[in-house]
Parts: sequence; structure tokens; C-alpha cells
Amino acid sequence: MNKINHLGIIVDGNGRWAKERGLSRSEGHRAGAETLKNIILYLNKENLVNYLSLYVFSTENFDRPKDEVNYLMELFLKWFKTVEKEYKKENIKVYFSGRKEYLKKEIVEAMNILEEKTKNNTGLVVNFCLSYGGRAEIVDATKKIAKMVVDNRIDIDDIDEKLFSQNLYHELPDVDFLIRTSGENRISNFMLWQISYAEFYFPKTCFPDFTIDELKKSFLEYEKRDRRFGKVK
Ligand code: FPP
Repeated sequence: MNKINHLGIIVDGNGRWAKERGLSRSEGHRAGAETLKNIILYLNKENLVNYLSLYVFSTENFDRPKDEVNYLMELFLKWFKTVEKEYKKENIKVYFSGRKEYLKKEIVEAMNILEEKTKNNTGLVVNFCLSYGGRAEIVDATKKIAKMVVDNRIDIDDIDEKLFSQNLYHELPDVDFLIRTSGENRISNFMLWQISYAEFYFPKTCFPDFTIDELKKSFLEYEKRDRRFGKVK
């Protein structure tokens, strides 16, 4: 298989997976977290992808029932505090994208520490999109750029796509392949700038059941795609 430069995954269907089994939504998220852990380690070990962006919590997800939001925040906090050693050993680098100002101080601290401790790693880059919205990212980049103009650090004519990309939460390459699990055929405000030429894949499987075999199947699907980037071959 050809290496994918940037893979995006919209994690979806934890709640439905749990409901189908008569379990609580929290149990669905816990199962989803296990699946996610396996996917990250597998992609890094097999060196199949350079960048992996994961949509794990949108700015809209704050409007879910309080109990569910609290459970997810606890799950994130525990995860970010415990993976540091393993990610150092596995050479995985972590980025976070999103509005950190909406998150509690202790989560932001854990996120900052994990980013800092893994910043020199050279393996898979895992970009967790948390408290994230694609439009918010574009607005935040626009504000940064406007401030540079106001401060006379750049000229209006210096604004181009490259400069814009450099002022997003992280300067990342375009997403090549985007998977959304659970059979929903929507983008839901995920990486709007970076998915311009992405290939989309919407498997019916709910995320907790999205095993390594399912992932391999999706890569076979990607291999079949004819990417022309608006050109004629
Ligand atoms: C969407 O599915 C999923 C989420 C909002 C949470 C994703 C979180 C995890 C996989 C937990 C672990 C992540 C980390 C980084 C520790 P949904 O629950 O909305 O599914 P539904 O549409 O079936 O209700």
C-alpha cells in the first residue's frame, strides 16, 4: 500500500454502538477509546500514515447532556495523562487543535504537557481535534492574520493560501483520505480548510467496531480512487 500522508477520521457511532447492546453511552465512548488506541499504535508501527487527525470532540458537542460531556472530559484527561510514556517510547508526536479556552484548566495543562513532551518525536503525528470546529479554526486564523496586518508585520498582499495554512492551529498538509464511521455522510465542520481535495469514505460500522481489518479495508478503497486534483491525467 502507498503511504497516506494525512488521514482524517471523524469518530462517530459510539452512542449507537452502546444502545444496540443495551449499554450506556459512556460505555460506548470507553469502547471507542480502546479502538482509537489500537488504530494509533497500528498506524505508527506499520508506518502507514504520516499525519492522523481525529475528530473527537466538536465545539457543538459541549451542548450534549452534562453527564456525557463530563464523562468524556474525564476520559480525555486520563488518557492524556497516561499515554505520555508510551508515546515517547513509540516516537508518536501529539498535536491538539481547537479552542482550548473552552476547556477546563487541568485538561489544558495535560494537553500542553503532552504536546511539549512529544514535540521532538519523529514518528506518526496524531492531531486530536478537541473543542474543535472547522469554521472556528478559519476565524481564529483570520484574526491572527488581521492582527499581523494591523501591527504592520505583513502587507495585505502577503496574504495567500500558504500564509493562511501557517496560521491555522497547526500547519498541516491537506487531508488525503477522510473516514467517517457509523454510516453518516456528513462533514460536520471538520477541517474545512484542509479537506479541499480529500477522498471521503463512509463505512457503516460504528466506531468501537472499526477494527484494524476494517481500517485495512478502507485503505484498499482509497487505493482505487483516481485523484486528479482538478486536472486531466
Ligand atoms: C461521536 O460518536 C463521538 C464522540 C463525540 C466522542 C469520541 C470520543 C472517543 C472515541 C473517546 C476517546 C478519545 C480519546 C482521545 C480518549 P457519538 O457518541 O456521538 O455516537 P452517536 O452518534 O452514535 O451517538
